[in-house]
Amino acid sequence: MAYLVLHFCITITLCLTVGGSLLRPKNSTGIVKESVLPPPGWVRSRDAPLDHILELRIGLPQLNFHILEQHLYEISDPEHERYGMHLSKEEVEELVAPSEESINVVDKWLASHGLTQHDVSRSPAKDWVIVKVPVGVAGEMLGTSFGLWTHKASGQTAVRTLKYSLPVDVHGHVELVQPTTMFSRTTGQKTTFRWSNQQAHEDVDTESSQITLPNGIMVDASCNQTVTINCLKQLYNAVGFAPKSKQNKIGITGYLGQFANIADLQLFYADQRPDALNSSFQFISVNGGQNSQNISQAGGEANLDTQFAFGLTFPTPATFYSTAGMPPFTPDIGTTTDSNEPYTTWLDFILSHPNPPQTISTSYADDEQTVPETFARRACSGFAQLGARGVSLMFSSGDGGVGDGDPDPATQQCFSNDGRNATRFIPGFPASCPFVTAVGGTIFIPERAVSFSGGGFSNFFARPQYQDQAVQTFLRSLPKGTYAGLFNPSAFPDVSALADNFKIFFRGRSGLIGGTSAASPAFAGFVSLLNDARLSRGLPPLGFLNPFLYSRGLTGLTDITVGSNPGCGTPGFNATKGWDPVTGLGTPNFGKLKELVLL
Ligand SMILES: *[C@@H]1O[C@H](CO)[C@@H](O)[C@H](O)[C@H]1NC(C)=O
Ligand SMILES: *[C@@H]1O[C@H](CO)[C@@H](O)[C@H](O)[C@H]1NC(C)=O
Ligand SMILES: *[C@@H]1O[C@H](CO)[C@@H](O)[C@H](O)[C@H]1NC(C)=O
Ligand SMILES: *[C@@H]1O[C@H](CO)[C@@H](O)[C@H](O)[C@H]1NC(C)=O
Ligand SMILES: *[C@@H]1O[C@H](CO)[C@@H](O)[C@H](O)[C@H]1NC(C)=O
Ligand SMILES: *[C@@H]1O[C@H](CO)[C@@H](O)[C@H](O)[C@H]1NC(C)=O
Repeated sequence: MAYLVLHFCITITLCLTVGGSLLRPKNSTGIVKESVLPPPGWVRSRDAPLDHILELRIGLPQLNFHILEQHLYEISDPEHERYGMHLSKEEVEELVAPSEESINVVDKWLASHGLTQHDVSRSPAKDWVIVKVPVGVAGEMLGTSFGLWTHKASGQTAVRTLKYSLPVDVHGHVELVQPTTMFSRTTGQKTTFRWSNQQAHEDVDTESSQITLPNGIMVDASCNQTVTINCLKQLYNAVGFAPKSKQNKIGITGYLGQFANIADLQLFYADQRPDALNSSFQFISVNGGQNSQNISQAGGEANLDTQFAFGLTFPTPATFYSTAGMPPFTPDIGTTTDSNEPYTTWLDFILSHPNPPQTISTSYADDEQTVPETFARRACSGFAQLGARGVSLMFSSGDGGVGDGDPDPATQQCFSNDGRNATRFIPGFPASCPFVTAVGGTIFIPERAVSFSGGGFSNFFARPQYQDQAVQTFLRSLPKGTYAGLFNPSAFPDVSALADNFKIFFRGRSGLIGGTSAASPAFAGFVSLLNDARLSRGLPPLGFLNPFLYSRGLTGLTDITVGSNPGCGTPGFNATKGWDPVTGLGTPNFGKLKELVLL
């Protein structure tokens, strides 16, 4: 690593001067690549330490992404003759690979800053180049100076800048460089954990009393207060289905240092899934993700996601991915490496894997406007690549209704970050990416929208064709002029599932928890069972789900028509007949969906 020398010398003025002049490029004049306004809620406290190490991700243009997108829509459309003909890892990589010229130009630019092939790592398709450099060098490469920024409400800090440039000959061969202008704060989409007390159990009348729903489905009355695996199987019409495919797999992603505790999982299985006792899941650490199994450090989010997804799909082989990186973070002088939002680190890993699970759920999200658009597009492109390879991706839609989840009007950030400071709804990312299935939330039986269910309209992504009709129908039902200017028309969520009062085990005790964090792994559990049904018949997995859900799958979903998702000081949207930006198309009816996916 060439910069160790510079790093070592940095405290000696003479040495720094010599090193600096050797490594500085001959012409550092560049063209601005990206510039943003100061993000709301953040302040720049001082210059970043020059020897702090940044891990820069340099995105090279993906030459044929538009062709990949076309393939993706064909193989995901149940009416198309290519339905289910997923692409191989190599085929996908070829389509997103940059040109040889881009690779060479960027390599030359890196070399002009003293970086050799030895210092560089690349994504499998070579569309990302990753280098670790001190802040001082990154500033020279990008014609900028990095600051130490503090998020006022949380006290978190990050090394970032508001603007960066690239030399004129490099400009067209690089789509983006991060972390530079990214001020996102990824969070798990779960509500506070409420420990069980005696009262909660006594409230439930008799075990045997049942609720009969209009469609004839019967659910234990206790499920209205406490949601278990059995409740979900009853409500979503999957009682008696036993997975049997040997090739099917399900995955849950974990971030922000969370791991799923196996002792808690056993308590959960003993309580709700006795036949799964003693079974576990594969743990995969991505980039140094933690897994101490110390029960007092168990993660609430990770426990919720794994207990419900794996409890629904046992004995389907299950994997939990723990991806390190907790952006933003507090930089220590010299040693700490920074990272971006965590999705791309995980994407690099999973895209390099020959056989990823066919169903994967993620319960983390960012406010869309805190993620630079170029970066959101590249992460979204990564999700499209997985879809093209036959992976169904579920993401929770967010827990802030149409807003940012902050109940205090004084600190809400319902403003556009584009200099106009207009009042705006706050969509969540990655839920807003058209290549994932965003899962909103419901509550109670009969189900109604839960008020925190994240939903609305992306400010980055155009509305995909598969949802055109559904969204137009909804927009026509809105009273004229409703929320004029507060949103753009590419919409989420796609579907929903129960999202509150889930009974989990956490640090040795049981309690109730909710959030669209609960809805996403629950929905993913049923998708995995559908994949099992297909694979057991020798059919390919479902892959990217949305084109199916908005067409043939419609009759396999139960429309939710009551409730709303307030936020930003407004009543939000209403759940309506048909698709709506609160509960999407509705909640799963597994029995019906199974027939539809086997047609
Ligand atoms: C540096 O590059 C810029 C942009 O290509 C060019 O306009 C300028 O003349 C160059 N300066 C030198 C000293 O070569
Ligand atoms: C479930 O609980 C909700 C909230 O208390 C209530 O409104 C609803 O009537 C209950 N459902 C049934 C079937 O009792
Ligand atoms: C789990 O392991 C325990 C102890 O080895 C054993 O008694 C029990 O039968 C096992 N349960 C299942 C469902 O395999
Ligand atoms: C487990 O974690 C707790 C809380 O972080 C800590 O106090 C304790 O020392 C840890 N135990 C072990 C054996 O590491
Ligand atoms: C935007 O407007 C809100 C409400 O008027 C105000 O609180 C906030 O400070 C403004 N932000 C900027 C960046 O001007
Ligand atoms: C939601 O429904 C209420 C009651 O019918 C109605 O007054 C309101 O205008 C609706 N809101 C939207 C955004 O459609």
